[in-house]
Amino acid sequence: MPPLKRLMSLLGPGGKSEAGPAGPDTVKSSKNNEVINLKVFVCTCNGEIKLPEDMNFGDGVEVKVIDDIKEIGSVGNDKVVIAGPTPRVLEKFFDSPNVEFVNIREQVAWVGHSPAKIKDLIQGAVDKLKNSEPVEKKTFDIKNKSALVIGGGVAGLETARQIADSGIKVHLVEKTPFLGGTVAKLDRLYPGGTPNSHTLYPLINEVVRNDNIEIFTNSDVESVEGGLGNYKVKVKTRGNVVEGKLDKKCEEVCPVTVNDDGIDRKAIYYMPTHPDSYGIDFDSCNKCGECVKVCGEISLDEAEKSLDVGAIVIATGLKDYDASQITEYGYGKYPNVLTKLEFERKFSNGEIKPKSVVIVNCAGSRDKNHLPYCSRVCCLLGLKEAKLIKDNSPETDVYINYIDMRSYGPFEDFYNTVRENYGVKFIQGRPSEILQDNESLVVRSEDILLGKNVETRAEYVVLMTGFVPDNEMFQKLGIPANGEFPVEYVNSCRSVDANPRGIVIAGAAAFPKGVAETVTDARESAVEVINVLNKDFIPKKTPTATINSDICSEADCRICTSACPYGAVALQGEEVTVNDELCMGCGICTATCAAGANQLDGHSDKGTLAQISGTVKEGDVMAFLCKWSSYNAADKAGYEKLSYPENVKIIRVPCTGRVDAQMILKAFSSGAKGVMIAGCPPDACHYFTGNFKARKRVTALKQLIEQFGINPEALRIEWIGKDESKRFVDIVNDLNSGEGG
Ligand code: FES
Repeated sequence: MPPLKRLMSLLGPGGKSEAGPAGPDTVKSSKNNEVINLKVFVCTCNGEIKLPEDMNFGDGVEVKVIDDIKEIGSVGNDKVVIAGPTPRVLEKFFDSPNVEFVNIREQVAWVGHSPAKIKDLIQGAVDKLKNSEPVEKKTFDIKNKSALVIGGGVAGLETARQIADSGIKVHLVEKTPFLGGTVAKLDRLYPGGTPNSHTLYPLINEVVRNDNIEIFTNSDVESVEGGLGNYKVKVKTRGNVVEGKLDKKCEEVCPVTVNDDGIDRKAIYYMPTHPDSYGIDFDSCNKCGECVKVCGEISLDEAEKSLDVGAIVIATGLKDYDASQITEYGYGKYPNVLTKLEFERKFSNGEIKPKSVVIVNCAGSRDKNHLPYCSRVCCLLGLKEAKLIKDNSPETDVYINYIDMRSYGPFEDFYNTVRENYGVKFIQGRPSEILQDNESLVVRSEDILLGKNVETRAEYVVLMTGFVPDNEMFQKLGIPANGEFPVEYVNSCRSVDANPRGIVIAGAAAFPKGVAETVTDARESAVEVINVLNKDFIPKKTPTATINSDICSEADCRICTSACPYGAVALQGEEVTVNDELCMGCGICTATCAAGANQLDGHSDKGTLAQISGTVKEGDVMAFLCKWSSYNAADKAGYEKLSYPENVKIIRVPCTGRVDAQMILKAFSSGAKGVMIAGCPPDACHYFTGNFKARKRVTALKQLIEQFGINPEALRIEWIGKDESKRFVDIVNDLNSGEGG
């Protein structure tokens, strides 16, 4: 066996089969009863493209030459090859997984290549479709037209209100006894120092009087089953209190005292939000029953309710990073070292009247030992606390230790006001430690601007810790989350090419936000949900990876489950399955499957290998170009009329992460003298990590092919951005000349 063939057989067991005969989906031509496998439309772009004389692409292939792509009309779900301008243009008119586009304008006519190349490119596309199973268009049926909103803070309230105002029924589930979330605990909001009541009260009023919103307080989402348009949700409600029946008397007999972010209260307590009644904090309640004896009409039992909903909004907000983890700052050891919420609550209700305060921004943030990221709003919250102190007690000395002041956009004014008009002193430097010295706390830090170490003494220190997401619901809903922001699901969910999601993350649950941004984000989330629930079905936008469970269970490697950047490929019991909703169609998981059990719609192993052998001729350079980046650079070379060798043949891939060893070796064994895989620049892969995975694979393959007599320099992986046409041309010239290959 020739070395390359032997290598391919080593790499590709079972399912990774060679191109075979025509696929099974044949139709009869109405004209002559000939078996037609597929149609090829070749567009001259109004005479701009010269076509080859020989337009015979094999048995059963009907060819139609047209001058304008609009002549094609609808192609339905048929297998069709359309040759003409770049797919970037054709995709505006044709949206079928069974259409294969061939770019003969930018890649042939506009770069001065001969019509003979057109024949090879179309032949590759024909062979691909002949060897591909037809792909059924998937749809998501939207059976349930109501929505579940989890979280009764500002994000949840605003999302619920917007959805309900559009006429859709909303179930709003809040786990505490009251609506309002974190904002309800704050005294004021930045930048103006507006009391939370300005935002919260009208919002709560609108939600409470909206007949389309059913409110569940003291309730948890126990379980969620199903998918987009068809979720079955179990909600558990703790206790049953008739509004107004729990009052001050019950609070007095309650034996449980709780420290609630700096304020001591009972497990029965009142908050001026909704409902207008005392509520029971069931996380702290010991079920002693003393309140039942005094107040009656109270049940401490749990009740469960099932809901059928079509979409779910996670608006569970955020949590403070645990300040006690920053041991050098003495939180939990020194009583006057407080978190921002503790300080604000104690100060606002008059419990403390400090003479001096140091506010430590970025406490634990942008620090690889704690939170590596910036939580965006902490600097502004630090300014808010400083203003709060100075508004009420101008004589108090206030210092802010900061690394950089991130007062983005309109908040620079806020920063300048606090700095220039309020007498707050700013020290640029992260404190190294906080110590207690008699009655004072001592904050040791560098003052970068003065170029020396300083010690600031104060009665109180406020730690502006960063934030972490509330992971509980993410885990229940199978959303990958590592306990830190950002929650990556959001990135893909909001991408225009992504499928609509039945699950949307709203407000600060996705990343820390101020109240105004939270409201804006909640409205965006509501629009997504309304768009979903107003339809009866939604076509899936992206191709899907499918798993042949027989082949998969035999191979039993499960590598693809860790390859998917979206957590779409997972083990369900003993079987690897793909979640249609989450799958973005990148093909990264498909490329990891050596058994061939995992296939991507429209980019199967068999079809792609057939395309490669149909396209490549002896001495060609095969370029696998990512459709998001390098393919567009090649197009740009076309409209800039840059010249590159005619023997450079391009195959468009969804991501370089889809290019596997079989495809590369197939190109070499078909006669290619060089193979290039070119993707998005580092950290810019449309699917997060596909380009890095491709680089790893190519690096390993280079070593392997050398042992089988192929110059490793003939295989290259490159990052080429969409505008880098000249770089594309230089690299393919290089590969063709053999200097790089
Ligand atoms: Fe371009 Fe992944 S999408 S390399």
